Amino acid sequence: MKSEMEIDILKILVTEEQIKARIAEMGEELYQRFEGKNPLFLGVLKGSFVFMSDLVRACQVKSDVEFIAVSSYENATASSGRVKIVHDIQQDITGRNLIVVEDILDSGSTLAFLSEYFKTRGAASITIVTLLDKPSRRIKAITADMAGFVVPDEFVVGYGLDYCQQYRNVPYIGVLKPEVYSR
Ligand code: IMP
Ligand code: MG
Repeated sequence: MKSEMEIDILKILVTEEQIKARIAEMGEELYQRFEGKNPLFLGVLKGSFVFMSDLVRACQVKSDVEFIAVSSYENATASSGRVKIVHDIQQDITGRNLIVVEDILDSGSTLAFLSEYFKTRGAASITIVTLLDKPSRRIKAITADMAGFVVPDEFVVGYGLDYCQQYRNVPYIGVLKPEVYSR
């Protein structure tokens, strides 16, 4: 039987197996790049929390973990473009090699803003790792250093990504049925 969330999913874009395999590769690549550099994994909440937990375990480098919470969406499917820090980092990042972990790079507003912010806070280097990349929607000149999957211009949910704060616990990346948006 389908779960109450599965019923709302029109199609699956990236399966659980594909996500798992790709994160193993990304973790290995990050290990090669950051071995001996004690990086700080910095997750952008809320969307990155699922990806972050799998990525840090796929990369057995000595490191620590931090989060920042931002909001730009105001519960719609299009970003407002204005980025607001809702919960700031709780430690000094001066001289640190940051691995910024995002769920999706869309217009680029969030990561353009955060990259500037982390630079002013004294980060030694900033490496942007995103699970999904939607390059067709880019407004800001920003690219990911590492992206799990390139996705088409469709609103996606699951694996941390939400629609109106729901569907974050769907274990794959999917697209919702049109009727969900008119509820
Ligand atoms: P950007 O600032 O436009 O690049 O958007 C980044 C943020 O918007 C992401 O961290 C997500 O939280 C959210 N977002 C962008 N596209 C999607 C989507 O297709 N589904 C769910 N959230 C999205
Ligand atoms: Mg979101």
